[in-house]
Amino acid sequence: MTRAPHRRDLLMLWGFMGAGKTSVGRAVADRLDVPFVDLDQSISADVGMTIEAIFDARGEGGFRSLERTAIRRELAKPGPRVIALGGGSLLDARLREEALDRAFVVVLWVSVETAVRRTHGTHRPLLRAAPEVEIPKLLVSRAAAYSEAHHTLRTDGREVLDLAVDVANLWLGGH
Ligand code: S3P
Repeated sequence: MTRAPHRRDLLMLWGFMGAGKTSVGRAVADRLDVPFVDLDQSISADVGMTIEAIFDARGEGGFRSLERTAIRRELAKPGPRVIALGGGSLLDARLREEALDRAFVVVLWVSVETAVRRTHGTHRPLLRAAPEVEIPKLLVSRAAAYSEAHHTLRTDGREVLDLAVDVANLWLGGH
């Protein structure tokens, strides 16, 4: 679906694990001097547990429910902010619609190879078993949802600061 560009004071960065949402989001926020929120970190701080521990204790369903609540809380707040989302956070169609209505949503797209490399040695609960198998499967199953974002930027081979300039320009309406 093609959506008109929006000038909105809330920027959400979405996309697959390893796409660079946190690094790029922080760089955009620094550049434009607005607050930055990493959604996983804020969920973790609220619950007092790591994301891994939340998955272990409550399962993926329990984590998604905390994630939905955290996103709706952010969507309801006024004021300019940059938010780095988790890779599966807007897979719920209704929540995605709410985010697309209220925020400017940019997907950072990453290839399977780069996602495998960047997530290697990290502790992502969904990639515990066999990342080389899970990553392509998850990416394919999520591609349609990611494609609904207002914009998509490919990140392979690009520097964080360079991407941050592009994202900031898109957000400020210079597309
Ligand atoms: C997830 C991505 C993770 C984290 C959780 C689930 C996903 O965040 O929210 O492990 O479903 O893609 P990052 O995308 O920041 O790794």
